[in-house]
Amino acid sequence: MMKDVLAVELQNYLRSLLPESGTIAAEQKKEAEESHIPIVEDEVANLLGLLVQMAKPQHILEIGTAIGRSSLAMAENLPPWGKITTIEMDEDRANRAQYYFEQSGSAKKIELILADAREYLPQLAEKETFDFIFLDAAKGQYLNFFPHLDKMLSPGGLIIADNVLLNGWVVDLSYPNHRRKTFVYRMREFLESMRDNPKYDSSLIPLGDGVLILRKKEN
Ligand SMILES: C[S@@+](CC[C@H](N)C(=O)[O-])C[C@H]1O[C@@H](n2cnc3c(N)ncnc32)[C@H](O)[C@@H]1O
Repeated sequence: MMKDVLAVELQNYLRSLLPESGTIAAEQKKEAEESHIPIVEDEVANLLGLLVQMAKPQHILEIGTAIGRSSLAMAENLPPWGKITTIEMDEDRANRAQYYFEQSGSAKKIELILADAREYLPQLAEKETFDFIFLDAAKGQYLNFFPHLDKMLSPGGLIIADNVLLNGWVVDLSYPNHRRKTFVYRMREFLESMRDNPKYDSSLIPLGDGVLILRKKEN
């Protein structure tokens, strides 16, 4: 059974305290709901925007663009010199994201790569560095992606990983089906390896579906 990480009343109250969504975000949310496309919750979009304001990154990497809701939440808060590289493997979603980027006026700041991150990240890690990474693709891949992300992240840089509580399944050890069992195992392994990684400081925030914030130590 799927669990809510926060009680629904509490979630609704938190949302009532957020600023109104802009026109494009409202359109993206409508499309995501109608087409069953998973996107960040409003409170997570808000957190991402604030983290970008605080960190003032020069180069953001996003893995899992979908239709670009989180990309734009970050782009709107980027300093003028900042850039985002975002990776999506689904062509229809990537086309819709590009449409929204152009509507928003932030298209120049965002490079959208249509690729499977499993193949693309090792190539990217040979040539690029980033100071802010938002990880929001297949949840079973976080552990595999991490060595590439670690290679690309500058000291002091942030990795934000979304949905790390897997709708609450992360504590479900009864494992009723194989797919969920694999997800739970892999996510727990990821979370525990991050806890034990001496190169990173971290905080797991039970907002939305669980947001893990990792900061690479300066030395
Ligand atoms: C949760 S959605 C991203 C939502 C988006 N970050 C937002 O909040 O607006 C995850 C996306 O990751 C994409 N994805 C999953 N595995 C991927 C991979 N290996 N490479 C690239 N994209 C992937 C899926 O197609 C999906 O659109």
